[in-house]
Amino acid sequence: MGGFLRRLAGARRWRHAAWPCAAVLLISLAAGSALRAAHGGQSNDADPDGERVGGDTTVFATGRNAFSFPAANLSDEERTRFVIGNSFFRRNWVQAPSSTQARDGLGPHFIARSCGGCHVQDGRGAPPELRQGKHEQPMGLLIRLSVPGTDAHGGPMPEPVYGDQFANAAVSGVKPEGEVTLRYRTVRGRFADGTPYSLLKPEYGFRKLAYGPMRPGTMVSPRIAPQVIGVGLIEAIADEDVLRNAQEQTDLGGPIRGRPNHVWDAPTQQMRLGRFGWKANVATVAHQTAAAFHGDIGITSALFPDETCTVAQRDCRAAPRGAAGRAPEIDERTLGNVIFYQSTLAPPARRGVQDAQTRQGAALFHAAQCAVCHRPSYVTSRAPLPQFSSRALEGQRIWPYTDLLLHDMGPELADGRPDFAADGRQWRTPPLWGIGLLHDVNGHTRLLHDGRARGVLEAVLWHGGEAQASKERVLKMNRSEREALVKFVESL
Ligand code: HEC
Ligand code: HEC
Repeated sequence: MGGFLRRLAGARRWRHAAWPCAAVLLISLAAGSALRAAHGGQSNDADPDGERVGGDTTVFATGRNAFSFPAANLSDEERTRFVIGNSFFRRNWVQAPSSTQARDGLGPHFIARSCGGCHVQDGRGAPPELRQGKHEQPMGLLIRLSVPGTDAHGGPMPEPVYGDQFANAAVSGVKPEGEVTLRYRTVRGRFADGTPYSLLKPEYGFRKLAYGPMRPGTMVSPRIAPQVIGVGLIEAIADEDVLRNAQEQTDLGGPIRGRPNHVWDAPTQQMRLGRFGWKANVATVAHQTAAAFHGDIGITSALFPDETCTVAQRDCRAAPRGAAGRAPEIDERTLGNVIFYQSTLAPPARRGVQDAQTRQGAALFHAAQCAVCHRPSYVTSRAPLPQFSSRALEGQRIWPYTDLLLHDMGPELADGRPDFAADGRQWRTPPLWGIGLLHDVNGHTRLLHDGRARGVLEAVLWHGGEAQASKERVLKMNRSEREALVKFVESL
């Protein structure tokens, strides 16, 4: 553990040091001016439509594997590292003890056996399917738990018996924490032109709780696994750009007032600007990856060395450990390779950017103020932890369509569960890139934090709070305008 953290601490010093050489300074200045051009909407580069959403990292890919390619500009050595990391993302971990010590240590409690079990094809999870009134236990959706109060870093306070997320699976000999229940309530409405619509509002609960009742007042936040393309590029957006988004929204003086999240980052042992997760509750890809191994699969690492078993879960604490009992269950090098893999997954290029309907939709997207929150473009700076990323991601003009800020989205979307600076009504604007390829990759288009929306239009119809006026603009659109708006979003 010491080595890992020491190396990370070294990286931190390096980042805070003055720019190491003049060449880098020049690049950063050039990037800054390109960014200002993008920001003012007067882009003068060769890609005004943002077809190459990840700049030089962009891959031209559609179909089932569209989310699974490395950044197009990686070196051969980096590609090899990507492939190694990929194998540990996809393959299942197994129960200890086993003959494959490199991959044992699953659980004792877990939700899925691999990263790819939830981020199927590097894509998106879905809420549990209902079949004949019964539903399967969730996998691509996890349920975060907490009780009032905060932990030592201002983060959520875990439920004392069940911890900070509900594990509905366990290795043999250990009880799963219980079962998740799900019901849907139908919400109906009409567009201004009279066309009716109906939405599904999920209500989650628990049954067969294995370790007794949860503490009264436990707060519950269901979240689906988002697609993981381009996360290294998002990590390389400069903090100042995100903070400037908040300032610009404040200056507009309207209801849209995004706020940054500030969260504890285990790899760098400091508070940082939050970027990942549905509430911007994680700052770095390294933290997200190590925390997912730990919380979702039950694999310990130097950063999270203890199993997730709580004091009350005696069977969980007594279960055999992986890696023949040598902690941690995933070694530093392998963890680093998975982080690198995550960071260098490329976003796929847009499709049909010249299409007339798509262009009409783009204009409607801006007119409806969608772009205030779903900010189109940035020029990347450098990765905070360069040992897990690639210089190939630096200085790229990217088009993720997010401000990375938290917004009050109204009572219908509220989970009532704070997460660092995010309150119970705030959510991070999710990046929209790749959204039109979800159907190719995952065979579904379940959107929003809990996957309740069955497509782009439904997602917009759930927008409220700071986005209420945007939604009202959409309600007033006629059918062909609605179709154009959706077509544009699905071209991203
Ligand atoms: C049980 C399902 C599940 C598993 C297994 C899982 N994830 Fe996730 N992942 C999620 C969910 C849910 C979120 C959103 C979390 C939140 O909002 O707090 C997420 C978020 C992420 C993000 C942030 C994406 C973004 O744009 O915000 C990354 C990166 C990620 N996961 C990587 C991984 C890696 C790497 C692994 C394996 C070590 C993994 N995940 C395993 C469900 C899962
Ligand atoms: C006030 C900021 C804001 C505005 C304005 C806004 N959005 Fe969003 N959008 C969000 C947030 C925050 C979420 C995530 C909400 C959630 O998951 O509960 C979201 C989610 C979405 C999603 C689902 C993304 C996913 O990955 O599941 C789509 C699609 C979307 N918005 C499109 C639009 C369109 C189109 C408009 C304009 C009509 C718009 N948004 C206006 C903040 C905004």
